[in-house]
Amino acid sequence: MANQNEQFKKIVSHCKEYGFIFQSSEVYDGLSAVYDYGPYGVQLKNNIKSYWWKSMVQMHENIVGIDASIFMHPKTWKASGHVDAFNDPLIDNKDSKKRYRADVLVEEYVEKIENKVKKEITKARKRFGETFDEAMYKETNPRVKGYMDKMETINTRLATSMSNSDLDDIKSLIEELEIACPVSGSKNWTEVRQFNLMFSTQLGTIAGEEGKLYLRPETAQGIFVNFLNVQKTARQKIPFGIAQIGKAFRNEIVARQFIFRMREFEQMEMQFFVRPGEEMKWYAYWKEARIKWHKTLTPDEKLRFHDHENLAHYANAATDIQFEFPFGFRELEGIHSRTDFDLSSHQELSGRKIQYFDAELKENYVPYVVETSIGCDRMFLSVMSNCLIEDIVPDADGKETTRTVLKLPPALAPIKCAVLPLLKNDERMTNAARDIINKLKFSFECYYEEKDGIGRRYRRQDAIGTPFCVTVDHQTLEDQTVTIRERDSLAQERVSIEDVERIVSEKVDMKKLLQA
Ligand code: GAP
Repeated sequence: MANQNEQFKKIVSHCKEYGFIFQSSEVYDGLSAVYDYGPYGVQLKNNIKSYWWKSMVQMHENIVGIDASIFMHPKTWKASGHVDAFNDPLIDNKDSKKRYRADVLVEEYVEKIENKVKKEITKARKRFGETFDEAMYKETNPRVKGYMDKMETINTRLATSMSNSDLDDIKSLIEELEIACPVSGSKNWTEVRQFNLMFSTQLGTIAGEEGKLYLRPETAQGIFVNFLNVQKTARQKIPFGIAQIGKAFRNEIVARQFIFRMREFEQMEMQFFVRPGEEMKWYAYWKEARIKWHKTLTPDEKLRFHDHENLAHYANAATDIQFEFPFGFRELEGIHSRTDFDLSSHQELSGRKIQYFDAELKENYVPYVVETSIGCDRMFLSVMSNCLIEDIVPDADGKETTRTVLKLPPALAPIKCAVLPLLKNDERMTNAARDIINKLKFSFECYYEEKDGIGRRYRRQDAIGTPFCVTVDHQTLEDQTVTIRERDSLAQERVSIEDVERIVSEKVDMKKLLQA
């Protein structure tokens, strides 16, 4: 656990130190759970978005994109159920005056038990060595079995009271488990009450309730209300999908863990419209397709599905793709079979027919929907968690030294190639380096740097994930060759300047990820 905390702290400070992510409005001591992406952060984030967009839109003839507005007609949120049901159960501690999500307090309690189980298992694995059977141990060791049963009982009770909106029972559970406020240590809690997560604002021209607008809490509704516009203009037949990347806003009560849970964040969502009755086939298809996408960036053991027991009001099946963040397995992407709930609700509340004529079936119907929804910022954090590494490498004198390196897939790297003149006072070298960049910059992002020794400059590029460093030296001036250094292997090769563009382009091409 301590190590995982250390790793998380390293990611946060690395993001700040190297210009990936800053706290919003830092000069005013920051705004909680709101973050700004810096020079390398925005490039990495754009590359993640581009990889998702290409995988969804470019690679599928039957998926098209849109970019809908953040503001939508207020009735949208009535129809979608967000006005009535987009709530979290909230509880205050009367002594510390701190506010918590009641369900999260219980989940954290369960997590502590889970950590105890993990500790027992690690100890037992050491004791029994090769012959250790984890499943059997969990079933037969009385202490571990006790922990497992306790977790199961708490989880089931929480799931039931959440789905029944039984706020009194959640409060009772907190009292029975004797959960204390992490700040004051007191168990002096208020009642649990519902808190709507949508941010609202006011339209300038209309006073009062009628002019109340919401900042969208999900991008999906912009897709639903445009269903017919897009289907007709893009001449799509069912099954087909509509994809969108955009900002969403939620007034999260528990907003922490850096960019994992933010109040302003970005979603990459795709709604896939299918014939009623075929949704489970497509749900299975998208589960498979999406985990495959993640596996192009993440080792298998850091990913898992987590099926929902507690279904949202619009879903008849739902799963999360969870990633093992430094603070444990958490939701990275949601895949939901949303039935015809949204289109039917918009049809009803707007009074407009929102239906599709299926020429094969010769029938009108409201399509069913399978949704894939991933948070771009969480994806960013998962990439950082995967790629920020400390490895042991030889220094200039051949001694072992530790370096911090961001082993990003080259296609996602903010800078693809740094061009470094060996000596900053030799104009012939600096001019040659500038000439190289002036050619390369048409193909990919480059970086010029002449300050400090070459070793330090390599380390700085390692820290921002640059896959290639090209060095201009004395020999360059004689024979038009440079050294090209590869970030992960540290291999250095002397190549002709003419070949640099081809070598780098081949390695950083997103095609490799798309074909994986
Ligand atoms: N349209 C469905 C929907 O919005 P969700 O599970 O509430 O479903 C989808 O959100 C994804 O959006 C999540 O898997 C997560 O990656 C991301 N997400 C949700 N809330 C977030 C927050 N407060 N901060 C960052 N990302 C968030």
